[in-house]
Amino acid sequence: MKISDQLKKDYEKKPFLDHKRAVLSAPVRHIFMISTIGFMKSIKSENISILEIGSWFGASTLSWAQGLKEYYDSKGEINCVDAWKPFFELEEHKEEEYVAEMEKLLEDDTVFKIFLHNINTIDNSIKINYFRQMSNEFFNSQKSKKYDIIFIDADHTYNSVLNDIKKSLDLINEGGVICGDDLNMQLCEVDKINAKENHNKDFIRDIKTGRNFHPGVTLAVDEIFGNVNSWGGFWAVQKVGDKWVNISLKNIPIVYPTHFNDDLLLRAKEHYSDIKEEIF
Ligand SMILES: C[S@@+](CC[C@H](N)C(=O)[O-])C[C@H]1O[C@@H](n2cnc3c(N)ncnc32)[C@H](O)[C@@H]1O
Repeated sequence: MKISDQLKKDYEKKPFLDHKRAVLSAPVRHIFMISTIGFMKSIKSENISILEIGSWFGASTLSWAQGLKEYYDSKGEINCVDAWKPFFELEEHKEEEYVAEMEKLLEDDTVFKIFLHNINTIDNSIKINYFRQMSNEFFNSQKSKKYDIIFIDADHTYNSVLNDIKKSLDLINEGGVICGDDLNMQLCEVDKINAKENHNKDFIRDIKTGRNFHPGVTLAVDEIFGNVNSWGGFWAVQKVGDKWVNISLKNIPIVYPTHFNDDLLLRAKEHYSDIKEEIF
């Protein structure tokens, strides 16, 4: 059955994440996204505004919405920026099966339609705005609006991540958090030369540890913030005056995403149990 028919038939008012590419990164990170909203609540009681750069199917949007439900009585605003169109440099990624699959899903608007379906399942009291444009165009159009949380999860190659972070620095409120996905390893852990040589690639193997990572995210985060706290690959820093400081999510209760299916939930729970002793 075509996904659009399936959405109408089996997923009325229910989020659709039953696709192998629905949640692209480690599901455990969504727990820490929800915890980040808990962290914000401890420093700002009035409604917050979130900016998400890169939304894909909307799994992360749903997690932010759950955080707002949990800590802000389903009030607040989520602004989603995504071009929902093919974006990989194909010359650099021609061997990668996941890239071909993602590009195909973006090309025929499947991803955008699923995103629209998924955000429609969010409580109406949460305001969702979406901007179908390249992040650069979005940032250039921003005049004075500021955000409490900015989540960076679009193109993971170095120049793009660097640009998304740099542009976010001016748009964050005092006390706000800039965060992002896919910091599998920090620069001090990987072979730096290899990371730099592959800065245009999405995902590579580190020759020092043998583990896979996103060199662009690792390089750009290090360049702007240095070593940061991260939780299963989700990273975050808080703006305090003219400094960027690490935050702690250690004592924030664990909330599992209700939009996850059994498989995603199991993966999140197992991963959480593996890392729970090392939570910052
Ligand atoms: C990794 S996915 C986002 C996943 C999503 N945050 C989640 O956790 O469910 C990256 C998304 O960024 C979008 N994207 C890539 N480069 C972009 C750019 N330069 N501007 C806007 N969107 C971009 C893609 O269309 C894709 O949907």
